[in-house]
Amino acid sequence: MALDEFLAELDQLAEAAAASFSQSSDTSSLESLRVQILGAKSGQLKSAQKGLGQMDPADKPLAGKHFNQTKKRIEEAYAAALERLETTSSTQEASCFDATEPGCRPRIGHLHPITQTIQELKDIFGRLGFSVVEGPEIEDERHNFDALNIDRSHPARDPLDNFYLASPSELVAAADGDDVIEGSLESPWLLRSQTSTVQIRVMEENPPPIRIVSLGRVYRPDTADATHYPMFHQIEGLLVDTDVTLADLKTVLRIFCSSYLGEDVHVRFRPSFFPFTEPSVEVDMQWGDGWVEMGGAGMVDPNVFRAVGYDPEQVTGFAFGLGVERLCARRFGITDIREFFKNDIRFLKQF
Ligand code: FA5
Repeated sequence: MALDEFLAELDQLAEAAAASFSQSSDTSSLESLRVQILGAKSGQLKSAQKGLGQMDPADKPLAGKHFNQTKKRIEEAYAAALERLETTSSTQEASCFDATEPGCRPRIGHLHPITQTIQELKDIFGRLGFSVVEGPEIEDERHNFDALNIDRSHPARDPLDNFYLASPSELVAAADGDDVIEGSLESPWLLRSQTSTVQIRVMEENPPPIRIVSLGRVYRPDTADATHYPMFHQIEGLLVDTDVTLADLKTVLRIFCSSYLGEDVHVRFRPSFFPFTEPSVEVDMQWGDGWVEMGGAGMVDPNVFRAVGYDPEQVTGFAFGLGVERLCARRFGITDIREFFKNDIRFLKQF
């Protein structure tokens, strides 16, 4: 191939390439052009390069140099076209951005209605001079039963009515593959079935007078229905002093009920029995035409005082335990407490 012919072909190719690159209107058509002209396998430049092989050896240095310059020119024309198209598209994107358009609002959560109720109950009892204490949810039999005057034969201790847990040595024995003989190891643990456990813990640690409330979860293998759930919350109250009477208990509970549920709420005290109070009452609240049991209460039994080292001749006291779900349900007219635990956002966002 003659040198002049080769050089002219290269110049023509470079000019045509530059013109095509500069006319392309989007990056995908530019990419097709790049493959067509600069493609390593069968691009036009690659075909032109074949002419180099047929060149007179004396012309080859000049022809090679010109080939390299042409290749560089075409690559530069491609790079310039690419930059032009990329800059245009980002400018177009930027021009689509409208700072005045309303943004996407994040969905803000809030406290669960039961947590809100717990806070409100703490506030009300705080104003009545009760301080708030906490107790563990995993308990031993002393605090859940023995010190509360619930003896070994009492049906409340039945394994079918409680969530008993394996003790540490039972767990170790089970892990070692040993047989565990029931009752052969230390006193079992259980998920507390009532917050009355906290009465014992507070009196064990503190001398009288006492004026506390404790709120938290309790667990019972109850079948879930409109008024029962296997995990629920109680508020426990304990007041110990000298000359405390049942009238004090009734007054505190009446004040509490009208603070939380409104002045017009009717409260009824029904004689009842709890091993840890004497006398004992059930506390009911009117709801529509009927009554709903909210909790139990009574004067602290002398045996409980003895169990914690108090002298029942010196002190008297009252205690109560109310169901938080039922209080909240009564306040908002919720007819099924299972709603609280379905986690249905349509229900929860109403609170
Ligand atoms: C007790 O738990 C006693 N510890 C209350 C008490 C405390 C009496 C201090 C005397 C002195 P009872 O088992 O009745 O009592 O439960 C009290 C309240 O918890 C019930 O009235 C009810 O409001 C609520 N409750 C009981 N079981 C459930 C359940 N499965 N689901 C939801 N709420 C429940």
